[in-house]
Amino acid sequence: MLVCALCTLPPIQQNMISKRNTDRNILVTSALPYANGSIHLGHLVEYIQTDIWARFQRLRDNTCYYVCADDAHGTPIMLRARADGITPEELIAATQKEHEADFADFLIDFDNYYSTHSDENKAFAESIYLKLRDDGHIRMQTIKQAYDPEANMFLPDRFIKGNCPKCGAADQYGDNCEACGATYDPTELKNPVSAVSGATPVKKDSEQYFFKLSDFSEMLQQWLKDGHVQTEIANKQNELFSDGLKDWDISRNAPYWGFEIPDAPGKYFYVWMDAPMGYMASFKNLCNKSQQGDDPIKFDDYWAADSKNELYHFIGKDIARFHTLFWPAVLDGAGYRKPTAVFCHGFLTVNGQKMSKSRGTFIKARTYLDHLNPEYLRYYYTAKLSSGVDDIDLNFEDFMQRVNSDLVGKVVNIASRCAGFISKKFDGQLSAQLPETELYNEIVTAGEQIAEFYEAREYNKAVREIMAQADKANVYIDENKPWVLIKQQGREQEVQEICTQGLNMFRLLMTFLKPILPVTAEKSETFLNTEFTWAGLSQPLLSHRINKFKPLLTRIEKEQIIALTESSSEDMPDKEIDNKKSENKKTDGALTNDPIAEQISFDDFAKIDLRIAKIVKAEHVDGADKLLQLTLDLGGDTGGNTRNVFAGIKSAYKPEDLEGKLTVMVANLAPRKMRFGLSEGMVLAAGPGGKDLFILSPDEGAVAGMKVK
Ligand code: MSP
Ligand code: ZN
Repeated sequence: MLVCALCTLPPIQQNMISKRNTDRNILVTSALPYANGSIHLGHLVEYIQTDIWARFQRLRDNTCYYVCADDAHGTPIMLRARADGITPEELIAATQKEHEADFADFLIDFDNYYSTHSDENKAFAESIYLKLRDDGHIRMQTIKQAYDPEANMFLPDRFIKGNCPKCGAADQYGDNCEACGATYDPTELKNPVSAVSGATPVKKDSEQYFFKLSDFSEMLQQWLKDGHVQTEIANKQNELFSDGLKDWDISRNAPYWGFEIPDAPGKYFYVWMDAPMGYMASFKNLCNKSQQGDDPIKFDDYWAADSKNELYHFIGKDIARFHTLFWPAVLDGAGYRKPTAVFCHGFLTVNGQKMSKSRGTFIKARTYLDHLNPEYLRYYYTAKLSSGVDDIDLNFEDFMQRVNSDLVGKVVNIASRCAGFISKKFDGQLSAQLPETELYNEIVTAGEQIAEFYEAREYNKAVREIMAQADKANVYIDENKPWVLIKQQGREQEVQEICTQGLNMFRLLMTFLKPILPVTAEKSETFLNTEFTWAGLSQPLLSHRINKFKPLLTRIEKEQIIALTESSSEDMPDKEIDNKKSENKKTDGALTNDPIAEQISFDDFAKIDLRIAKIVKAEHVDGADKLLQLTLDLGGDTGGNTRNVFAGIKSAYKPEDLEGKLTVMVANLAPRKMRFGLSEGMVLAAGPGGKDLFILSPDEGAVAGMKVK
């Protein structure tokens, strides 16, 4: 904590507020990411949203714990480890390390990050199951399931591939067609094959354990009515009650990677049975660790059936059913409390479209961090997020513009406009009074509305309000022009007061932004030599010594964005995306590999003017990792019909090997301005990328300029 030794005010602000007000005791969670893939910008919508909420609660002096874990079980993880030639334990340990580093670098401040493959979680899975069983909520049933006779294992839907029963598209998964969007049962697939071995699956009887969700029908209907979930979600789940709730298959046959069901050799808990218990396990682990410290946390305070403390789960809309039907029913049946609320958010699109590897918009957390400051994304998401379940779009133009104009242009600018005068002319000393207390108080009052917006997860509204206040502060400085006054004799004190006013308004704004921009807030605290707290808002910093101003946040440059999308084009191997298609979970689409492109009409096709082109020159491009600059000759009698094209084929070709070759190009593609110049067309190449990339070349006899039919 920063304590002020210099100003005339006692350092009360700090002491008064650091005391924890235990009025509200809150436990929040984010969904547990699967342990077989990297964190990407889609995931981060959720972790950033939750982190900001938790930080806000702490800033308001509530007790708020934020726990999470890796979701470490299930068939995809088992198969992925097998494919990589490592044990599942090795895979999940490595992934957890990667996830934790990504989250830390995105400033996600978990109180505990754990794994569902833990002793605590095993204990919860077993005890909860036994309680449900002993109370009659578990039944057994023999069902027919797809079985891979070569791999000797039952196959989850997502591990059966075949031709779509509706449109015939090849290589479609067992639950939906990525070409035409049809959904169906895996048994309807034509020519089905196992994605594990390639064998034709057979039907096999198997006895499974079902959780009798229907036993909880009334309780759930009431719970959904009582405002624990957003209206959209309640309405959607309500539709399921009319035909009666279906019981839930919670078991899987060996080989499976998970916890074995007690008294049921060869049967394992389905990953979605023990995954939400991971919330409890991570919290339990935190409680255990806290026992030695001065502030031991009691598990039962948060999970006992009669707990008055608050429990919130932040999740994506794709997993709402698990969290708003199964999970509350399991908790209820096992004698625990139910969540105070489940907060559901929408999905991320990038530049208006699903994230896509080929467009370079499937961006891993780490790739982003290699190019850009995490606080930019935290701010941008906040500026877009509401309390609804609408998807949010990351548009790079808008991203750059918002961050630069709001954070750098408006907020940080206030500090940099005032700081110099205070440190150079007044030895870092703020004035003893504010010239415009009313304006200061107005901004303090706006804080109440801002707090309400944060609390209600109306982050976009909170940001709008904060920026409206920043505008006021800038107008104040513009009108008072300290840079003009300082040149006039005898007006020093005015300048000191104006800048003190400016810096105090900056402090208010940075306090509001602290949950979103923890690092910039910390730097600003060092600069202003004080800790920013919500309770300290109404008390301006006067007669206080501040430190030298150092740049807080720099602008985003266009080159950084280009470099980010360029590095992302080759980020994600197909395998990783396939693995993400986990069993029994309709994938969110945003995560799936690009399907064979959607059908186009003949007219669309006829519009493409494909030509034979001669590569007359090929050169390296300074500063580009992947591009070569090609000069393509399109023939013609007069000659000189050349095009300049940038092609991402540097990984596969040396420029000198290309010169003189014929290839195929799209000749009527609208010219595109790239960072290195204008690209006037595109050459065609095939292959997975890297060294394996092949430009198309025609047979002998072809000449430059010929139309490709
Ligand atoms: N393992 C399960 C959750 C178990 S919780 C007991 C899972 N994992 S996940 O890795 O697929 O997703 C983790 C969270 O990230 C989910 O809430 C999911 O909705 C969210 N998102 C994953 N991709 C997303 C986007 N493209 N956009 C927004 N959120 C996304 O589901
Ligand atoms: Zn289809």
